Amino acid sequence: MAPRTAGETMYCKEDHIAVFDSGVGGISVLRQLYRLLPGEQFVYYGDSANAPYGARSTDEVRRLALSAAKKIMECHQIKALVVACNTATAAAIDDLRSTYPELIVIGIEPALKVAADSFPEGRVGIMATDVTLREEKLNRLIGLFPACDVEKIHAPGLVELVEAGKGNSPEADALLRPVLSPYAGKIDALVLGCTHYPFAAKSIRRILGPKIMLADGGEGTARETKRRLAEAKLLRKGTGGVIWKNSLDDPRMIRLSQNLLSQDW
Ligand code: DGL
Repeated sequence: MAPRTAGETMYCKEDHIAVFDSGVGGISVLRQLYRLLPGEQFVYYGDSANAPYGARSTDEVRRLALSAAKKIMECHQIKALVVACNTATAAAIDDLRSTYPELIVIGIEPALKVAADSFPEGRVGIMATDVTLREEKLNRLIGLFPACDVEKIHAPGLVELVEAGKGNSPEADALLRPVLSPYAGKIDALVLGCTHYPFAAKSIRRILGPKIMLADGGEGTARETKRRLAEAKLLRKGTGGVIWKNSLDDPRMIRLSQNLLSQDW
């Protein structure tokens, strides 16, 4: 199926909502979308063959994100594309929007506002990938909350553990302990600025304590998707569902994806 372009666009309610991430992380956004929009048909595309995106150059991430969007649209009629990946949003959201000017394209950004609303003068950690942490977009976001004391935190290797289904595991505890222990009792909230990280929430709480506020962008992204679809009169009421696609073409990735969607959170 050829991707629809400007001028030939007639989106309809029955079209799918595509949700895209570098791998299984975007399922933390999909679960919020599914809760809020139970009558929609989703296509979830995880680019696990190319994960992690977060350690790549910005240009590489941009190229991969554009190519993933093209692949999705070659196979599915979609009315919205949710970029459920902070890294791909930071690197490629402008290019995606200019390539598909009439499509609803929703990005995600670290949920600093959620943390700052609760702790306006607090100390907040933002844990995200190297790409997200170095892009100017994040500095601009941090600049909106001058009273907050924001600390950027790298957690190399955590995305790979979540991709291996080990987000809540002794391995995740061992990886996160040296990264997060210095902040235990010293930050008010931790922003999970990578969509894979909510699947490590239990490990994170074991280190930072059960009361730490964890903020992720999944819910806000789902609300914005609903708002944009309602505005365009494209909300569907019917039987919802998910079509699973993964660039690794390995049935284990689809099983892991389904397990992550049904996991309690
Ligand atoms: N899940 C992605 C994000 O939200 C990135 C993971 C990766 O490095 O591939 O940033």
